[in-house]
Amino acid sequence: AWANLQAAPADKILGLTVLYNKDTNPSKINLGVGAYRDNNGKPWILPSVKKAEEVLAKTEESKEYVPIVGSPKFNELIKTLLYSHDDAGKQLLKDGRVLTSQGISGTGSLRVLGEFVRTFYPTSKKVLVPNPTWANHVAILEKAGLTTEKYKYYDFKTNALDEQGMLADLAAAEPGTVVLLHACCHNPTGVDPKLEQWDKILDVISEKKLLPFLDMAYQGFGSGSPIEDLGILFKFNKAVADGKLSNFVLSQSFAKNMGLYGERVGSLSLITSGPEETVRVKSQLEKVIRPLYSSPPSHGSKLVEIILSDEAIYQQWLKDVKVMADRLIEMRALLYDKLKNTYKNPLNWDHLLNQKGMFCYTGLSEEQVKKLIDKSVYLTSDGRISIAGIYPANVDYLAKAIHEVTTN
Ligand code: LMR
Repeated sequence: AWANLQAAPADKILGLTVLYNKDTNPSKINLGVGAYRDNNGKPWILPSVKKAEEVLAKTEESKEYVPIVGSPKFNELIKTLLYSHDDAGKQLLKDGRVLTSQGISGTGSLRVLGEFVRTFYPTSKKVLVPNPTWANHVAILEKAGLTTEKYKYYDFKTNALDEQGMLADLAAAEPGTVVLLHACCHNPTGVDPKLEQWDKILDVISEKKLLPFLDMAYQGFGSGSPIEDLGILFKFNKAVADGKLSNFVLSQSFAKNMGLYGERVGSLSLITSGPEETVRVKSQLEKVIRPLYSSPPSHGSKLVEIILSDEAIYQQWLKDVKVMADRLIEMRALLYDKLKNTYKNPLNWDHLLNQKGMFCYTGLSEEQVKKLIDKSVYLTSDGRISIAGIYPANVDYLAKAIHEVTTN
């Protein structure tokens, strides 16, 4: 049956890990996948997660299926984490307008929301996505049966937000179109709109009645605090509470900020007009999820429940997030210093310091990326580097390699 089947190209991000693992060069560096590494380049199980594992080992009573949308406790805690830190969010909760569901990390949450929007959103089947965006976004949304189109986002000349281009593209959209927005730490560019730019974006969204589809995979990596990074969500909550926006949807992941990559745990939220609509929407959401994966995995979500409900462990988690965010900032500075001061690289590297989160969009060309891969430095072909893969012992090799490919 598969005799004429062509091999598919390797995944643009995860395929790099496969190449990296095969490479025998002891100096090899993996700056491909966005996965946190510690100062020795090792994966890190968060101390808060270790504590939660201990609690879970002692208290877990069953491995029974959890409900289709996840456990009621998980969903209550998600609402508290995301919607209880601002007045508008609290009001939405009080009015019964927030529906949440566990999702299979960011990807699964995006897919379920994509399926839901395609099936039930009457106005549009098109999603506007930023140019550029996470490579998997387009694939997820299109597999869910939606079409995608790019809006201007990144100014490739200045390495900053193309504010005018973005506003103009959104203003030119068909009324009611879905628009995908990264809530913080834009992947791959690390460039987020400033809070006052979000106000302008929200004005256009409101005017054109666009449906915002927020994706929040790096909550905490922008400011070092998962709560402070909700600043954008607060604006959307307020816009809904003020009647400027009728709703939005949100996907969220604990892969990065709890380091629960392989546990596949995250959430999705939908805003409704009130409790009665919430019940109806939930019933249809269950019909979307059940044939896809029946019900979500429970080990990771139980860890999340413990972390979000045990005050001491929660405080530890906030510290853990800060440790990760701070280390990324340090590595940005270290690489910048090596490039500019040790190797006297003539290019402008300010964006290394200015961009936020796990990634730096270096501006390296595809040709330069190929040359770096020849030197066993793995990064995506668009020139994105995962800062998390940098640590004190490899930064010199990395800076030297970047210097060589940008000056020869
Ligand atoms: C990334 O962009 O590297 C991460 O979101 C991991 C992934 O699944 O691509």
